Amino acid sequence: MQLPKPKFTALDDALYDYLLAHRSPDDDVVRELREQTARLGHWAVMQIAPDQATFLRILVAAIGARHAVEVGTFTGLSALAIARGLPKDGRLLCLDVSEEWTGIARGAWARAGVAERIELRIAPAAETLRALPDEPSFDFAFIDADKKSYSVYWEEIVRRLRPGGLIAADNVLWEGDVVDATEQGEDVVAIRRFNERVVADPRVESVMLALADGLTIARKLP
Ligand SMILES: C[S@@+](CC[C@H](N)C(=O)[O-])C[C@H]1O[C@@H](n2cnc3c(N)ncnc32)[C@H](O)[C@@H]1O
Repeated sequence: MQLPKPKFTALDDALYDYLLAHRSPDDDVVRELREQTARLGHWAVMQIAPDQATFLRILVAAIGARHAVEVGTFTGLSALAIARGLPKDGRLLCLDVSEEWTGIARGAWARAGVAERIELRIAPAAETLRALPDEPSFDFAFIDADKKSYSVYWEEIVRRLRPGGLIAADNVLWEGDVVDATEQGEDVVAIRRFNERVVADPRVESVMLALADGLTIARKLP
């Protein structure tokens, strides 16, 4: 039997603005952080989208996460969202290589009153992850750093995720290039390889959301 094509709604600018306006509003800390990041020029495109930030906060709170890890912090918007979803005594470990960009993040976390929940380690993330205790300790993870290392981050995190915990991974559609065979750059090839790895991994169930540049959510099975 031919099944009907599932529904989806493509977004244009007007619909995206409508969508952004119909979520819990950003506060001054988020607005200021987005403005500060915009002043960095072309680098600003690395910041997660505002609706992704809202989504991460809701997701972290909804699963009652207490311990989280983030790979790729930049100026700190995703970390701010994750930290705000944690309880007051929750902990977020942030991994990045840039003192400069994460300096902006530290300011925003302090203004938001979540700085004490966040530990930032400046070093290549694969090294930091490999040095962590090899036991399930995280309830939530967000992967958003260099794309060529996504599969490494995945392996190091899945083994340290408690059953029922979630991993979110950003940019899994790579602006649509994942389905364009003429695109063979290092990043898109790495993202394709990562997407195949996730879907074939029997330790998780996963879904790819058409949120911003594509966000995979994977849940570690009991
Ligand atoms: C796309 S940005 C992260 C955006 C961030 N999640 C946000 O919400 O604004 C990617 C970040 O990964 C960091 N990065 C790149 N290579 C890395 C590595 N090998 N280890 C750790 N961080 C790395 C960069 O310094 C950059 O800040």
